[in-house]
Amino acid sequence: MSTDLGDDGWPIGVNRIVLDSVDSTNAEAARRANSLQGPAWILARQQTRGRGRRGRPWADPVGNFSASHVMFPPEPLQDVALNSFVVALSLYQTLKVVAPSEGYALKWPNDVLLNGTKIAGILLETSGTQTKVDWLVIGIGVNLCHAPDLADVEPRATPPSSVLAQLGKAPDIEELLDILAITFASDRKLFETAGFDPFRRLWLRHAANLGGTVTARTMKEEITGTFEDLDETGNLILTTPKGPVAITAADVFF
Ligand code: BTN
Repeated sequence: MSTDLGDDGWPIGVNRIVLDSVDSTNAEAARRANSLQGPAWILARQQTRGRGRRGRPWADPVGNFSASHVMFPPEPLQDVALNSFVVALSLYQTLKVVAPSEGYALKWPNDVLLNGTKIAGILLETSGTQTKVDWLVIGIGVNLCHAPDLADVEPRATPPSSVLAQLGKAPDIEELLDILAITFASDRKLFETAGFDPFRRLWLRHAANLGGTVTARTMKEEITGTFEDLDETGNLILTTPKGPVAITAADVFF
């Protein structure tokens, strides 16, 4: 779906903020959200206190991509989380353009893998109520040049790597931002008109380990089963000896 672009190739009406260094682009986006006139992308060359899912730190040395998109979605909170799949697909498509490879795949809920290694993560944060979301911040980190040490990640986690390590070269962060902003604006338009279903189907087409054995660690238990589907609300569907189980939030291990 086409999107309206200015002469500079950037989506019209979307702010573009580039910072040398910040604690966290998600934190900066949250601080600025109420004073912004419309949506914005905030890119930082370096984060000093980047944050990951489930309260984990996200290391972000110079050379890696860290940016947050602030937006004001009209949909209720329960649908806002679906943007994580939309943006994961936007990032997947963008990476295929700026760092071409056939090795990309998506891992539930919203990691991007390259040759079986984790190279990107996405963190959504919101403010508002169940029925009225004031703002949504979508934070995206891509290990372009550097990745954390294997020793620093949890046992059984997908090993981290970088685009540079996997492909021998890495794109420039602003080039990645430009393509991502256009791709997401277009994907978001489609989401508003067609809903989640086209994204669900596309996500499944690029999903890592579909049909394979997966362990999901939720806050209270570990469930192992066959990765069967992604449902219409974004749940991971595992087939287990006790029948199908829908997982809403978990860490997933292959
Ligand atoms: C994950 O744990 O996989 C998600 C990591 C998300 C990191 C990005 S980097 C840009 C944005 N700012 C943050 O502080 N976190 C996100």
